[in-house]
Amino acid sequence: MKFFIDTANLSQIREAQDLGVLDGVTTNPSLMAKEGITGQANILKHYVDICSIATGDVSAEVIGTEYKDIIAEGEHLASLHKQIVVKVPMIKDGVKAIRYFTDKGIRTNCTLVFSAGQALLAAKAGATYVSPFLGRLDDISFDGMELIHQIVHIYRNYGYSTQVLAASIRNPLHIVKCAEAGADVATCPLSAILDLLKHPLTDIGLAKFLADAKKTQEVSAK
Ligand code: G3P
Repeated sequence: MKFFIDTANLSQIREAQDLGVLDGVTTNPSLMAKEGITGQANILKHYVDICSIATGDVSAEVIGTEYKDIIAEGEHLASLHKQIVVKVPMIKDGVKAIRYFTDKGIRTNCTLVFSAGQALLAAKAGATYVSPFLGRLDDISFDGMELIHQIVHIYRNYGYSTQVLAASIRNPLHIVKCAEAGADVATCPLSAILDLLKHPLTDIGLAKFLADAKKTQEVSAK
């Protein structure tokens, strides 16, 4: 399973890239706003800055909701850098735009997906990635993980090439469950990736190994 980081924070992207486990980046307008990136020129520059840090695909989201606006915006975003994937919302004009981009060889990430039916449409339109938001479903007492299983199952039934990019991940268990379900990608906050490192028995075991290593060093020094 590929690991993407879900942030527009450059130092977090750098940290994940330096860890050697990063396969890409996803952003959205809320994440850009959180970093205080304002003004179209700064936003576009920020995408290019992200591409200069991360080696994989970088999702950049359109804000237009009408077909012609999505097309103009998406074509411009795609022209910024070869790593850019155009992120398009799951709306009627969005699906139509994904078909257009697919036919033009522009890669897309269909976002704001909350049902298997929506995921089916995204795959039919040829989206490169589909982003089901599992955490936001959990937030309203729907089983987000169940949706990931359903989409993976449906895509396998028909051999769709659209990759299942599990989004809105909140914790390390979500990541492990996505891997079990066969998601192609999990996009996560840095904290969830780093939380995968943690196990108390690792800490206890390492402390014991280091204490015993110290004893062996003391003996050899005598
Ligand atoms: O990138 C979209 C998605 O990951 C949003 O996550 O935590 O705002 O639901 P969240």
